[in-house]
Amino acid sequence: MFNRAIKIAPSILSADFANLGAEIRAVEAEGADWIHVDPMDGHFVPNLTIGPNVVAAIRPHVKTFMDVHLMIAPADPYIEAFAKAGSDMITIHAEAGAHLQRSLQMVRDNGAKAGVALNMTTPISHLEHILDSVDMVLVMTINPGFGGQKFNASMVEKVRQMRAMIGKRPIHIEVDGGIDPTTAPLVAAAGADVLVAGSAVFRGGSVDNPGIYGQNIRAIRDAANAALKG
Ligand code: DX5
Ligand code: ZN
Repeated sequence: MFNRAIKIAPSILSADFANLGAEIRAVEAEGADWIHVDPMDGHFVPNLTIGPNVVAAIRPHVKTFMDVHLMIAPADPYIEAFAKAGSDMITIHAEAGAHLQRSLQMVRDNGAKAGVALNMTTPISHLEHILDSVDMVLVMTINPGFGGQKFNASMVEKVRQMRAMIGKRPIHIEVDGGIDPTTAPLVAAAGADVLVAGSAVFRGGSVDNPGIYGQNIRAIRDAANAALKG
């Protein structure tokens, strides 16, 4: 069911890649709401990560919701494979192809929810006429490609404007990049409900010391929820 409660989505880009199944089980046991997965193609972004085979391999370990952020251009030739791998949400970049609405429809036709990611320089007006085709908007708060980068504060106003454009539609707003207990309140107050965090979740912990993951997740969630109350 759609809801706008704050959801923390650890990005496994910051996990131990030799131990992804155990890392996923650990962060879920410690309170993660979604699991965020970052396939990259070495072309759309200057890094290479994982493909559909790895997504399929980790699928049985994800008990919550698998949120797959494709940093791949063109995305269309890979949508079916990532859907078959068990993605619950497939997010494609608005900049990844000329026919965004067709790509989003392809995601839905393959049985996944359809997200669209906006690079920092892509205006929200890009989406104005296709909101009916979208289940989530990912407002990037860094240039995608790597974890551990600094949050760009200019994106807070972009989230606020996106929230206003969405109105009553059942569309999530996700933010990704530099989210930690300091930046989470800013984006939550502006209207984001899905907070991706890689380094701020995995920092200091391990599968042998998962309590740290729990502390990190709670710190982000509590900071975001405090901003909504206040
Ligand atoms: C980067 C990825 C992010 C990344 C975020 O392109 O999309 O999901 O893991 O990492 P942090 O939270 O460390 O900025
Ligand atoms: Zn991401």
